[in-house]
Amino acid sequence: KNDLSTQVLGKEIYWFDSIDSTSNEAKKLAAAGCPEGTLVLAEAQCTGRGRLARGWFSPRGKGIWLSVVLRPPFQPYDAPKCTLMTAVALTRAIRRATGVPCGIKWPNDILYNGKKVVGILTEMSAEMDAINYVVLGMGTNVNIAADEFPDELAGIATSLAEAAGRPFCRKTLLKEILAELETVYLEVSRSGFDSILKEWRRLSVTLGQTVQVVGPDKQFSGLAVDIDASGALLVQTDGSLETVIAGDVSIRPA
Ligand code: BTN
Repeated sequence: KNDLSTQVLGKEIYWFDSIDSTSNEAKKLAAAGCPEGTLVLAEAQCTGRGRLARGWFSPRGKGIWLSVVLRPPFQPYDAPKCTLMTAVALTRAIRRATGVPCGIKWPNDILYNGKKVVGILTEMSAEMDAINYVVLGMGTNVNIAADEFPDELAGIATSLAEAAGRPFCRKTLLKEILAELETVYLEVSRSGFDSILKEWRRLSVTLGQTVQVVGPDKQFSGLAVDIDASGALLVQTDGSLETVIAGDVSIRPA
């Protein structure tokens, strides 16, 4: 029994003092048939993972290191939109609970003042045309002091406490995040992604910016003009409108 206000998220909760990665654990549980809404939380991760084979700094007790197992009724090609849905939910919850005016950087970051406060990692297992499970991994930097980040994250990462000048209760924030994620997930399951895409545009800090797109086989800059119905970023270059799929691409300020 827990004191969350959610119906689906948190049906089963696994809490670890320390773990390699909550997403590794969630994938194991998902593959073994755990129910939708299973949560894995850890106080510390020793090998937290990010996109593009990056690590995720996960110091003890200073953030919300969380993975959620979903079994969504979507097609596998809709999985990237789960990242957008999660970003919208987290941005809303964080703004409401902390007042920090953060925004979404396509595809999977939440930034404040140009620096990362949240990273989202969406991983999927699908067979034929059905999703078996999606694991949403979310790392929220809550009470990390500026000087606690490793040197390579200086100027790149920040925390809600640094942004607001005061610490926050992780439990309160966690409850808000889960409640909002459930609301958004149920809405999307019922009525599709359209309303979420609109909200995403409103909360985005990427649209309207000149960006540099860095992929494995090409690199170019242009103006980020919109996202399309699949969640891909549309970038206007001198000659053409490019459709950028999250995959292994990174976006940098130009
Ligand atoms: C990124 O910015 O590239 C995504 C970072 C995702 C970090 C979270 S923390 C909880 C979960 N467990 C992991 O190993 N990664 C995600």
